[in-house]
Amino acid sequence: MFTSRPIGFVRSRYSATSEVPKGLGAKHDAEGVLSILPEFGAGLTNIEGFSHLFVIWEFDRSNGFDLTGTPPSDNRPYGVFATRSPRRPNPIGLTVVELLRRDGLDLHVRGVEMLDKTPILDIKPYLSSIPTERLHRGWLAEAEARQK
Ligand SMILES: C[S@@+](CC[C@H](N)C(=O)[O-])C[C@H]1O[C@@H](n2cnc3c(N)ncnc32)[C@H](O)[C@@H]1O
Repeated sequence: MFTSRPIGFVRSRYSATSEVPKGLGAKHDAEGVLSILPEFGAGLTNIEGFSHLFVIWEFDRSNGFDLTGTPPSDNRPYGVFATRSPRRPNPIGLTVVELLRRDGLDLHVRGVEMLDKTPILDIKPYLSSIPTERLHRGWLAEAEARQK
């Protein structure tokens, strides 16, 4: 297995998990900055053309994991791999953000749900070829229907 190292850090308005919107209908439109370390700067070449990015990051302020848990969006327990819980065996987060602009080593983005100074492990262009009608939202769709 490889040892991960940050390629940069998130600059976010959130400094505590309680500040991040949670639950059904929560909006993730906070702006922030993905600040990339100088030694990885060349890796940003050509990124400007993509509207959205996958950000892979570390839940660095989460300890341990639970194989089942009750998410903020429902009152029933689900398996960790059927949720986006921060308490997972490998504390890796995945967020899609909108790229607003690049300013040198700084990527200004919308959709930040990470805490300030969260380590960024990787960035990839967001691409999806799955037609909407083939996407199933599992228990989340059921929870949304129940809470209407
Ligand atoms: C439910 S997780 C989902 C993250 C991502 N969308 C995913 O699927 O991996 C998002 C929550 O993680 C928590 N969080 C954000 N940054 C964190 C960090 N650096 N360490 C631990 N928890 C963090 C916040 O409470 C935030 O609401």
